Amino acid sequence: MYTSLIPLAVIGTIWTSLFTFKVLNFIWIYFLRPSSIKKYHHNHIHSSAPPWAIITGASDGIGKQYAHELARLDFNIVLHGRNATKLHHLRTELHDEFPHLSFRAIVADASKSGPESSKHIQEIVDTLRDLHVTILINNVGSGGYRDGTVYAEIQDTEPEDIDHLINVNARFPAQFTRAVVPLLLSHGGPALILSMGSMGELGCPKLSLYGAAKCFDMSFSRALRREMILAGRDHVEVLGIMTGSVTGVSHNKSKATLQTPDSGDFARGAFQKVGCGEDVVAATAFQGLVWNMVRAMPLFLRDQSLISGIKRDMEMRAKLAKKA
Ligand SMILES: NC(=O)c1ccc[n+]([C@@H]2O[C@H](COP(=O)([O-])OP(=O)(O)OC[C@H]3O[C@@H](n4cnc5c(N)ncnc54)[C@H](OP(=O)(O)O)[C@@H]3O)[C@@H](O)[C@H]2O)c1
Ligand SMILES: *[C@@H]1O[C@H](CO)[C@@H](O)[C@H](O)[C@H]1NC(C)=O
Ligand SMILES: *[C@@H]1O[C@H](CO)[C@@H](O)[C@H](O)[C@H]1NC(C)=O
Repeated sequence: MYTSLIPLAVIGTIWTSLFTFKVLNFIWIYFLRPSSIKKYHHNHIHSSAPPWAIITGASDGIGKQYAHELARLDFNIVLHGRNATKLHHLRTELHDEFPHLSFRAIVADASKSGPESSKHIQEIVDTLRDLHVTILINNVGSGGYRDGTVYAEIQDTEPEDIDHLINVNARFPAQFTRAVVPLLLSHGGPALILSMGSMGELGCPKLSLYGAAKCFDMSFSRALRREMILAGRDHVEVLGIMTGSVTGVSHNKSKATLQTPDSGDFARGAFQKVGCGEDVVAATAFQGLVWNMVRAMPLFLRDQSLISGIKRDMEMRAKLAKKA
């Protein structure tokens, strides 16, 4: 008489096993697994070719912390940014702390578009041909309009700001990656492409362009990962980092909280995920949990949480602006 319950029992067992697996996998990835970033520190060509990493948007925030972390791991670094003075300061700072390493700076405004700008990107990357590059970090990105506005409805957005946001967050990373991949493949050894996503891609109101451009980055990263597998290049790791709010960056200098980690802790968290085998992963356990929970919500709850989240943020910014 209980045979009719067997299918239910089977479904229940499968569901419980899958859920248990997910929980254990989460604990493994976010708390236990050691990073395999050191495997990108190699001399695959010959012993006298020291490994280099390239970081875009390295002059501030998370990019700057990535630079410090990679220097600690003994990588030579190409620092990209738009402000030559800021890059020069960072180079000096790194040089003083790590005198045995080399640092180069490259300047390119990521908000420009058109054939001239794509040519410029290729020309800059051509100057790096002599380097043994094993890591590319696509970090450059900005949620702000040209005047610094962050939250705006689409009809109140200037056409130039639409181009600006798409250029900085999507077009430049795509052009830059295209130019750098041949360097990463040239030595035939392990190589890593790490790119920055944003929870904005969940579809936050008044952040439509930024979220859509960051969604481009993660879709691009997921596809590149499979492109490498398809081509038999499984020594090339392609990893997307889903990013919630981070402090210690150009637009936020407040104290860190569980929800909003400091850029240094964030950078270490992201590097700890290297080698985890996911296509996209969060840098901290808390942000990973939030990301999974929001995606699992029914639509009406997701609507509520994304809308109230933006409302809260706008109120806080308004308060801060009043104080300043
Ligand atoms: N912080 C967050 O809460 C958060 C949340 C989600 C995702 N993210 C992502 O994390 C990444 C880093 O963000 P962050 O908060 O660390 O940013 P940040 O502190 O503002 O630093 C951004 C870096 O990118 C450079 N940059 C900005 N616009 C540029 C342009 N037009 N041309 C060339 N370089 C440009 C900046 O150069 P300058 O020094 O000249 O300004 C700086 O080096 C971005 O991809 C961002 O989308 C951040
Ligand atoms: C570049 O950075 C320096 C140092 O932070 C700053 O004084 C200068 O105004 C910046 N230049 C531009 C064009 O933003
Ligand atoms: C700035 O960081 C604080 C935590 O230190 C966080 O509560 C706040 O949401 C952040 N602000 C923005 C605009 O991201």
